[in-house]
Amino acid sequence: MRLEGKIALITGGGTGIGLATVRAFCKEGAKTLLFGRRKDRLESAVQELGPQAQAITGDMTCNDDLDHLTQTALNMHGRIDILVNNAGIFTGAPLHEMEEEQWNQSIDLNLSSVFRLTQRVLKPMMTQKSGNFINISSILGMIAVPQVAAYNSSKGALIQFSRSIAMEYGAYGIRSNAICPGLIETEMTEDLMTDKELMATWAKDYPIGRFGKPEDVANACLYLASDESSFVTGAVLPVDGGFTAH
Ligand SMILES: NC(=O)c1ccc[n+]([C@@H]2O[C@H](COP(=O)([O-])OP(=O)(O)OC[C@H]3O[C@@H](n4cnc5c(N)ncnc54)[C@H](OP(=O)(O)O)[C@@H]3O)[C@@H](O)[C@H]2O)c1
Repeated sequence: MRLEGKIALITGGGTGIGLATVRAFCKEGAKTLLFGRRKDRLESAVQELGPQAQAITGDMTCNDDLDHLTQTALNMHGRIDILVNNAGIFTGAPLHEMEEEQWNQSIDLNLSSVFRLTQRVLKPMMTQKSGNFINISSILGMIAVPQVAAYNSSKGALIQFSRSIAMEYGAYGIRSNAICPGLIETEMTEDLMTDKELMATWAKDYPIGRFGKPEDVANACLYLASDESSFVTGAVLPVDGGFTAH
C-alpha cells in the first residue's frame, strides 16, 4: 500500500475534496485525522471508514483548536507525516463594494490559518526529519477572474507559501506542493452548478470536456503524499482538465 503506516491530517476532511482525499489515503493504509467545524459531517466519514479515520472538531481560525488537533495527533501517533491544507472558503463581491470583513475572512481562512497550522506541524516534522505538505490552492491562484479578488489573492499567496516551505525545509526531508483544482463538483460549487447556461459557457474552457470530481483532486493528493513523488517539491500542479493550458 502506498501510504502504509503514514499519519495524515486533512483539514476540511468531512466534505468534498477533503473527504475524497481521506478515502483515498485510508484505502492506501494511512491513518487519518479529519478536521472541520461540522461534527456530523466528520462523524459520518469516520463511520464509513472505521478505525483508520478519526474526527477532530474545530475551527481553523481558532489557535486553541489547532493546538488540540496537533497535540491529539502527536499523543495518539507520536508523529505527523502529511498535512493536507484543504479547508477553505469561496466568497465574492465586486472589489469596490467588498466589505473589509469579507476580505479578512478569506485571507484569514485560506492563508493565515494555513500558516498557523503549518507552523504547529513543522516543529515535529523537523524533529522527525521528514514531512509532507499538500496545499489546496486553485486555478484562481494562477489566473484571476472578476468579483473574487480576495479568493484570487489568498490562493495566489498560498502557492508562494507552499513554495516557501519547500525552500526553507527541504534539508529536513520535508516536501511541500500546491494543487490547483479547476471547477470541482462539491458543496462549494453546488449553487454555481445550478446555472446551466453559465456552466455550458464555462465548460467550453475545459479541453477535457467536463468539470472535475473530488476524486480527481484526491488522486493528485495521493501521488504527492506517496514516495512516488519523493523528488517533487515546490511544485504547482493544476488539476483542471486543461483550463490553464489556454
Ligand atoms: N470546488 C472547487 O471548484 C474548488 C476549486 C479550486 C479549489 N478548491 C479548494 O478546495 C478546498 C476544498 O473545497 P471543496 O470544493 O471540497 O468544498 P467544501 O466541501 O465546501 O469544503 C470546504 C471544507 O472546509 C471546511 N472549513 C471551512 N471553514 C472552516 C473553518 N473555519 N475551520 C475548519 N474547517 C473549515 C468545511 O468544513 P466545515 O464547514 O464543517 O468547517 C469543509 O469541509 C478549498 O480550499 C477550496 O478553496 C475548490
